[in-house]
Amino acid sequence: MKVLVLGPGGREHAIISALLRDPAVTEVHSAPGNAGIAALVRTHAVDADSPEEVTALAERLAADLVVVGPEAPLVAGVSDALREAGFPVFGPSAEAARLEGSKAFAKEVMAEADVPTAMARVAHDEAGAARALDAFGPPYVVKDDGLAAGKGVVVTEDREEALAHARSCFESGSTVVIEEFLDGPEVSLFVICDGAHTVPLSPAQDFKRIFDADQGPNTGGMGAYTPLPWLPEGFTDEVVRRVAQPTVDAMARRGTPFVGVLYCGLAVTSRGLRVIEFNARFGDPETQAVLARLATPLGQLLLAAAAGELDGQERLRWDVRPAVGVVMAAQNYPDSPRKGDAISGIAEAEALEGVSVLHAGTRSERDAEGRETVLTAGGRVLAVVALAEDLEQARARAYEGVGRIAWPGAQHRTDIAARAAAGEISIPTA
Ligand code: AMP
Ligand code: GLY
Repeated sequence: MKVLVLGPGGREHAIISALLRDPAVTEVHSAPGNAGIAALVRTHAVDADSPEEVTALAERLAADLVVVGPEAPLVAGVSDALREAGFPVFGPSAEAARLEGSKAFAKEVMAEADVPTAMARVAHDEAGAARALDAFGPPYVVKDDGLAAGKGVVVTEDREEALAHARSCFESGSTVVIEEFLDGPEVSLFVICDGAHTVPLSPAQDFKRIFDADQGPNTGGMGAYTPLPWLPEGFTDEVVRRVAQPTVDAMARRGTPFVGVLYCGLAVTSRGLRVIEFNARFGDPETQAVLARLATPLGQLLLAAAAGELDGQERLRWDVRPAVGVVMAAQNYPDSPRKGDAISGIAEAEALEGVSVLHAGTRSERDAEGRETVLTAGGRVLAVVALAEDLEQARARAYEGVGRIAWPGAQHRTDIAARAAAGEISIPTA
């Protein structure tokens, strides 16, 4: 099987590494990729967001499967164009990807499918926003309807700050979603969907803030670990039964079947399970940790989903060892990350037992003698992922790897998976 993977980041590096472990996968291609991906497979300088360019590449390669990594190509209609041209695609249509693209649309589908989520009101002006804030009370949660990846969300005790965020969304032409505050730890659960059936991966936890102890601004994600020892028995089955399957059923009824990953962003609250958000793709950096443990061949699984041939009874196999992934980011991330610094120590980190380094924002450069240097080329530069006997050891190993990698201004959190390893995470009681 020949697979084309779209996207430039750490998630795509992880997907490609897992595909290469599948004996049915004979060839993998990437567009556009990064330095880590280029060391594994052929990369193509094609705009992953262009339906025409991607379809032409898939035709040239005679791809048996196209896997869409990020959200942008989904929104741009790349999956639709590929399906139209006859390719099996793992990734939803632009219509189905609205589950991620519009919070108001996601709320509408959840209401229709009886999926538990935060109570919410859509506000169109400042007076409406003020009424909704006062209806729910503090802490206030104000979301820009159009913006994904946590960037448009403000959670605050300060009513003035909440109103100011709403005002700035209205000024830029967006509507605003105001929600009740959800207490309790967050979980990311990725569910593979073929339009009708669902197969869950293993739950993970992401760390969205830039600094230790969840301080500072939101980022794309600074680290992840999996599985989650503090979850109640039967958690994953409950998410499938109450969240993923009803959502997939509702999308099918609407005539916009969901094929791809339904990323369920959840809170485990004192009043039970609640959806915080849906995404229409694998999460980054959770995927780097989750796929490190996957023993089931990934290519065959994604092809079955793309072809509508899951039966929903699939039981995936996992490495028993937990995985911890720590993101190393460039100086000034998430504002305006500095680029172009030479990275050292990647091979030394990968020499550690159970450690792999997954590239995100990197590129490579050759000097006159043909020596290769890997340079930073984005905000999140790479993730060091370690598998080990228990969470504490996986953490220690990942940080040993981080300690071997360096470039000027590199930053990382030091507390990824620390509270879980210490048994300090609990679900609030009512
Ligand atoms: P979102 O873009 O909807 O994922 O929101 C980004 C982050 O804001 C989430 O990962 C949560 O940490 C936080 N958040 C969003 N909605 C809520 C809520 N209703 N209650 C508490 N925290 C929330
Ligand atoms: N890790 C969060 C995301 O992928 O959106």
